Amino acid sequence: IAKISSDYGQIKAINISHRGASGHAPEHTLQAYELGNVMNGDYIEVDLQMTKDGELIALHDETIDRTTEKKGLVKNLTLKEIKKIDAGSWFNEAFPKKMSTEYSGLQIPTLREVLDRFSPDSKFFIETKSPEVYPGMEEKLISILNEYNLTGAHHTFGNVVVQSFSVESLKKVHQLDESIPLVQLLSYYAPAVITDTEVSKIKEYAVGVGLHYTAVSPGYIKKVTDSGLMVFPYTVNEKEDMDMLLDWGATGMFTNYPDRLDEVIQSR
Ligand code: G3P
Ligand code: CA
Repeated sequence: IAKISSDYGQIKAINISHRGASGHAPEHTLQAYELGNVMNGDYIEVDLQMTKDGELIALHDETIDRTTEKKGLVKNLTLKEIKKIDAGSWFNEAFPKKMSTEYSGLQIPTLREVLDRFSPDSKFFIETKSPEVYPGMEEKLISILNEYNLTGAHHTFGNVVVQSFSVESLKKVHQLDESIPLVQLLSYYAPAVITDTEVSKIKEYAVGVGLHYTAVSPGYIKKVTDSGLMVFPYTVNEKEDMDMLLDWGATGMFTNYPDRLDEVIQSR
């Protein structure tokens, strides 16, 4: 476990700001990421999509429909078109109690803009989203990480973790650069069960797994962590659940409220 974070020995659990502190600010904006850091998140979670002209951007959905005022598939839009879109006002409308004038007109950031702003001081949990829709996504990711000295001999192990639901995408990343720790995201109909064979296969390329927190059981966490893999449940927003998952031995977790998780961790 100490492998993933050089200072893991000093912290009790890994706090991942899911889409930034997305319970407080519009997801996947620089403001949400900044807030995640302010709220003591250890990692900023970045979901990746790729534009028509091959730029990696931080966005959860394949479309811009839910989190902007426009509609369309990212793969059909150029970066120039993406940059004209307001990625913050939807949040003010959806969550009037949390609204801020600062959020109006926020842009969807590129991966480079995220790294320009936060690297090398922050750590990143980067997800290759819909890799089958975006051929070349992994090569592009590794090339950008190389540019920012976040791979190979230059980087501190664990400062960048790559995660995906796609086994193929993770194996491609592993082929391109064996030094990057990988987390296999898994989908389960609760409760989650994992076989020894599945654990062994994942261990060939990954250092951990991520799964929906409602599928997790103490036995699952014990089996996976006993094997040497880490476990990161997502997306855990209530303190009671955070506390319970830590009692069960979760390595850390994804949360929209890194401030709440920090309070739980500090109180233990
Ligand atoms: O990456 C962990 C978790 O974020 C996976 O679900 O849909 O929020 O990307 P999603
Ligand atoms: Ca994600």
